[in-house]
Amino acid sequence: MIYVAKPIVESEEIQAVKEVLKSGMLAEGKVSREFEKKYSEYIGVKYSTVTSNGTTALHTALEAMNIQPGDEVITSPFTFIASANTIAMIGAIPIFVDIDPFTYNIDPELIEAAITPKTKAIMPVHIFGMPADMKQIMEIAEKHDLLVLEDACQAHGAEIGGRKVGSFGDAAAFSFYATKNMMTGEGGMITTNNEELYDNATMVKNHGRGKKGGYSHFQIGYNFRMLDIVSALGIVQLERLPDVIRAQRKNAEEFSKVVNEIDVLTPQKELDGMKSAYHVYAPVLDSDYLTRDDVIDKFRNHDIGARSVYTLPCHKQDTYLNISSWRWAKFVDYPDYSKLQLPNSERIGNQHFQIPSHASINEDERKQILTAIQDIFC
Ligand SMILES: Cc1ncc(COP(=O)(O)O)c(C=O)c1O
Repeated sequence: MIYVAKPIVESEEIQAVKEVLKSGMLAEGKVSREFEKKYSEYIGVKYSTVTSNGTTALHTALEAMNIQPGDEVITSPFTFIASANTIAMIGAIPIFVDIDPFTYNIDPELIEAAITPKTKAIMPVHIFGMPADMKQIMEIAEKHDLLVLEDACQAHGAEIGGRKVGSFGDAAAFSFYATKNMMTGEGGMITTNNEELYDNATMVKNHGRGKKGGYSHFQIGYNFRMLDIVSALGIVQLERLPDVIRAQRKNAEEFSKVVNEIDVLTPQKELDGMKSAYHVYAPVLDSDYLTRDDVIDKFRNHDIGARSVYTLPCHKQDTYLNISSWRWAKFVDYPDYSKLQLPNSERIGNQHFQIPSHASINEDERKQILTAIQDIFC
């Protein structure tokens, strides 16, 4: 079976982890500082700070931006639920704006209508590694004096006009979960050009400690730190990232040549000047004779681990349908999410399917996937 993800762990990763283990300095320290420095250089920002995962990176960044209970944060409903949940965790209100049906990313044309006096920030998600339209989003944010937090958890190495995602907003959050473009099992990173935001984030993730460490604390914070064992893995994975992106883009390009010829399929669209990282390759099916689940079964019969991911967009998840039971609901006026209709997110949720596009796919496997696409649809 060709699975949708296959983490790359080779002798370099093992050696790097061994060295940290042998050093006896396991917790966040000098290896993490080195990882942050290299990550900042790669993304093209001034500051980065490691966190325990992508969820804690988003959570920390929102707190560091001083988003308050009752504030509204505009985001996409077609995403992993952590994007919305981190907004809700701090008592802020996720406001879901529908997606563009071709890029699957938040539709910038719909954002302004969702802005209210309570709106404080926009959280675009670069879904499946496809950059959101940051030019339009930053223009809207500037016009309405809003902060922007990029959820780049799936988009390490994606670019707009030669510039990496994660360098456009006031801050960005990345995940290094085991299936990501670069991975450390669990792990996360915040990137920013704003020194104050960076300083706040380093306090939020470390029990409100100041730069000098020790036992002086200045605000309530968490333990969202990273291990140096994990950062050592991250440094090696970052070195591999350009090759990984190249391989994923090649796979996507080869698949799309065939997919574009099939009437019932549409691949995710890369807008002009954008370069997706193709963390996920997921076309949309629009057929009278095949259901999405039929298609997934047929791929599996070809030993290809196809699947669908966000079949239920966030506003259709029980979490948001039952928001009145969330602890902040006593203090915060949530919208009635059950009344929300976001047709593009719902349709793409129902009609997309993912096939493996990761960098470990070899020539034979790529052929196997291409043959399966032809067998199923032609
Ligand atoms: C879009 C998006 N946001 C946030 C997260 C959360 O990251 P993590 O799983 O590392 O907490 C993920 C990870 O799957 C994600 O894909």
